[in-house]
Amino acid sequence: MSMPTVRSPIVREIARRSRPLLARMVQPFPPVILMLALVLLGVMPRVAQAQEGPTSNRPTNAQCLVCHEEPGLEMILPSGEVLPLTIDAQAFDDSAHGLHASEEVRCVDCHNDLIGYPHPTFPDVDFRTWQLKLSLVCGNCHEEQALARQESIHARLIAAGKFEAASCVDCHGSHQAPWVNPENRPVDRMRMVDACGQCHSAIADDYRKSIHGEEAAKGNDDVPTCSHCHPAHNIQDPRSAAFRLNSPELCGECHADAELMAKYDISTDVFDTYVADFHGTTVAIFEATEPNQYTNKAVCSDCHGAHLILPPSDEHSSVMSANLLKTCQRCHPDANERFTQSWLGHYRPDWKRYPLVAAVQWFYYLVIPVTLAFFAVFVSTDAFRTFKDRKRRNQNRSAGKENDALTGGESHD
Ligand code: HEC
Ligand code: HEC
Ligand code: HEC
Ligand code: HEC
Ligand code: HEC
Ligand code: HEC
Ligand code: HEC
Ligand code: HEC
Ligand code: HEC
Repeated sequence: MSMPTVRSPIVREIARRSRPLLARMVQPFPPVILMLALVLLGVMPRVAQAQEGPTSNRPTNAQCLVCHEEPGLEMILPSGEVLPLTIDAQAFDDSAHGLHASEEVRCVDCHNDLIGYPHPTFPDVDFRTWQLKLSLVCGNCHEEQALARQESIHARLIAAGKFEAASCVDCHGSHQAPWVNPENRPVDRMRMVDACGQCHSAIADDYRKSIHGEEAAKGNDDVPTCSHCHPAHNIQDPRSAAFRLNSPELCGECHADAELMAKYDISTDVFDTYVADFHGTTVAIFEATEPNQYTNKAVCSDCHGAHLILPPSDEHSSVMSANLLKTCQRCHPDANERFTQSWLGHYRPDWKRYPLVAAVQWFYYLVIPVTLAFFAVFVSTDAFRTFKDRKRRNQNRSAGKENDALTGGESHD
C-alpha cells in the first residue's frame, strides 16, 4: 500500500524550509518530515509527555487537536480520495460526546488504533471501507443499539456488500453526533429526518410536505417522524407481507387514541370503521391467521399514502373527494362515481347520513338475533320432545320385555 501524501500548507512550508537538511527523505517518507518538523515546533514533547504519564496510552483530545485543529490539513488515500483532517473542536464539544456527556469520550476511544504520532499506515484503500470499519467501534459503548441493529435491513444490506446502506455514522455523524433521545433533553427531530433524507431524498421531501411532516417541523411531538414508523435500529422491509398487514396498527396507535385525536378534532372512528369494513375485516383476520401472506386488500396507506399524507380537505389529498375515484381504481379498475359512494368511508352508518344503510343494519341487528332465537327455541323444544318420546318408548319397550319375561317364565314352568 502506498504512503498517504500529506497536504497542509504549514507542513509543506516546514518541508520547504528544511529542504537542505531533509532533501532525500521528502519524497518517500512525508510523515517523518512532519514528525521532525513538529519536534521543532515543540509539539511532539507534549505528546511524548502524555505518553509517559499515568494516562500514557490515552492521549487527551487536546493532544490530538494540536495538529487536527490545523486548518487545511488533509491527506490523499490510496484510492485517490482526499480526506480532510481538520476537526471542528467546538462542534465536538457541543456534541453528545462532548462536554455534557455523562462520561468523558476521547478521540482514542473511537480511534483506538492511534496513540500518538506518527500514526500507523492508513489501514484501508478507500474512505467508505474505513468509515464502516470505524463505525463498529460505536458498539463498544452502545451495545444495545448495536445488537438491535444487526437485524435491520440496513445492516443486512451492508453485510451483503451494499456499502451505501446506513451505518451508525451515516445517521448520527462521527464528531458532531447530536443528542437524539427526547427522554433526556429536548431534541430537534427533523435532524434525523434530514439524516434519512441524505439517502432517501424523495421520501423525505414527500414527508416534509405531509401533515405529519409540517407539524413535526413546527416542533409538534404528537406526529410521527421516520423512525416512529421505521424503528431506526431495527428497520424492516416495508414491502414485506408482515409489515403491510401490521401497518394499520401503526396508524391506529395514534388515530385510535381518543385523547390525542380530540386535540385535533379528528375522528377516532377512522380506525374502528376501518376494522369493521370489508377491507379492514379481511386484513384483521389475515393478520391473525396468515401473518406471512401478502394481502391485496386496501390498508390505510393504499388510500392515504404513507409519506405524503394530507388532510382529506387538501386539494392534493388522495382521499379528497375529487381524487378518490382514482385511488379506488388502482385496485377496482371498473369503479365509477357510484362505486366510491357505495363505501361508507370512515363513517358509521347513522340515521342522518345513511338512513337506508342504517335501517338495513338495524334490520340485521334485530332480525338475525330474533330469528336465531326463534330457531333455537324451536330446535330445543323439538329435541326435548323427541328425547322425551324416545324415553317413554324405551320405558314402554322395557316394560313389555319384563312382561314377556314374566309370562315367558310362567309358560316354561
Ligand atoms: C503531530 C501531529 C499529529 C498529532 C499529534 C495527531 N495527528 Fe492524526 N494525523 C496527522 C497527520 C499529518 C495525518 C495524515 C496521515 C499521516 O501522516 O499518518 C493524520 C491522520 C489522522 C487520521 C486519518 C486516518 C489515519 O489513520 O491516518 C486520524 C483518524 C487521526 N489522524 C487521528 C488522530 C488522533 C485520534 C490523534 C490523537 C491520538 C492524532 N491524530 C494525533 C497529524 C497528527
Ligand atoms: C464517537 C467516535 C469518534 C470520536 C470520539 C472521534 N472520532 Fe474521529 N472519526 C470517527 C469516525 C467514525 C470517522 C470516520 C469518518 C467519518 O465518518 O467522519 C472519524 C474520522 C476522523 C478523521 C478523518 C477526517 C474525517 O473527519 O473524516 C480524523 C482526522 C479524526 N477522526 C480525528 C479525530 C479527533 C482528533 C478526535 C478527538 C477530538 C476524534 N476524531 C474523535 C469517530 C470518532
Ligand atoms: C467510549 C464510549 C463511546 C463510544 C465509542 C461511542 N459513544 Fe456515543 N456516547 C457515549 C457517551 C458517554 C454518551 C453520552 C450519554 C449520556 O450522557 O447520556 C454518548 C451519547 C451518544 C448519543 C446521544 C444519545 C442520547 O441520549 O441522545 C449518540 C446518538 C451516540 N452516542 C452515538 C454514537 C456513535 C454513532 C458512535 C460511533 C461513531 C458512538 N456513539 C461511540 C459513549 C460512547
Ligand atoms: C438509520 C439510521 C440510524 C442508524 C443506522 C443508527 N441509528 Fe441510532 N438512532 C437513530 C434515531 C432516529 C434515533 C432516535 C431515537 C429513535 O427515534 O429511535 C437513534 C437513537 C440512538 C441513541 C440514543 C438512545 C436510543 O436508543 O434512543 C443511541 C445511543 C444510538 N442511536 C446509537 C446508535 C449506534 C451505536 C448505531 C450503530 C450500531 C446506530 N445508532 C445506528 C437512527 C439511527
Ligand atoms: C447512508 C445512506 C442511508 C441512510 C442515511 C438511510 N438509509 Fe435507508 N436505505 C439505504 C439503502 C442504500 C437502502 C437499500 C435500498 C434498496 O435496496 O434499493 C435502504 C433501505 C431502507 C429501507 C427498506 C426499503 C427499501 O427501499 O429497501 C427503509 C424502510 C429505510 N431504508 C429507511 C430509512 C430510514 C427511516 C432512515 C433514517 C432513520 C434511513 N433509511 C437512513 C440507505 C440509507
Ligand atoms: C406514518 C408512518 C410512516 C412515516 C412517518 C414514514 N414512513 Fe416510510 N413507510 C411507511 C409505510 C406504511 C410504508 C409501506 C407502504 C408504502 O410504501 O406506501 C413505508 C415505506 C417506506 C420505504 C420503502 C418503500 C418506498 O416507499 O419506497 C422507505 C425507504 C421509507 N418508507 C422510508 C421512510 C423515511 C426516510 C421516512 C421519513 C422521511 C419515512 N419513511 C416516514 C410508513 C411511514
Ligand atoms: C405518532 C402518532 C401518529 C401516527 C403513528 C400516525 N398519525 Fe396521522 N396524525 C397524527 C396527528 C397528531 C395528526 C394531526 C396533525 C394536525 O392536524 O396538526 C395526524 C393527522 C393525520 C391526517 C389528517 C387528518 C385531518 O383531517 O387533518 C391523516 C389523513 C392521517 N394523520 C393519516 C395517518 C395514517 C394513514 C397513518 C399511518 C400510515 C398515520 N396517520 C399515523 C398522529 C399520527
Ligand atoms: C379505502 C380507502 C381508505 C382506507 C383503507 C382508509 N381510509 Fe382514511 N379516509 C378515506 C377517505 C375517503 C377519507 C375522507 C372521507 C371520510 O372521512 O370518510 C378518509 C379520512 C381519514 C381521516 C380524516 C378523518 C377526520 O376526522 O378528519 C383520517 C385521520 C384517516 N382517514 C385515517 C385512516 C386510517 C388510520 C386508516 C387505516 C386504519 C384509514 N384511514 C384507511 C379513505 C380510506
Ligand atoms: C389496495 C387495493 C384496494 C384499494 C386501493 C381499494 N380497494 Fe376496495 N377492495 C380491495 C379488494 C382486494 C377487495 C376484495 C375483493 C373481493 O374479495 O372480491 C375489495 C373490496 C371492496 C368492496 C366490496 C365489494 C367488492 O367489489 O368486492 C367495496 C365496496 C370496495 N372494496 C370499495 C372500495 C373503495 C370505495 C375504494 C376507494 C376509496 C377502495 N375499495 C380501494 C382492494 C382495494
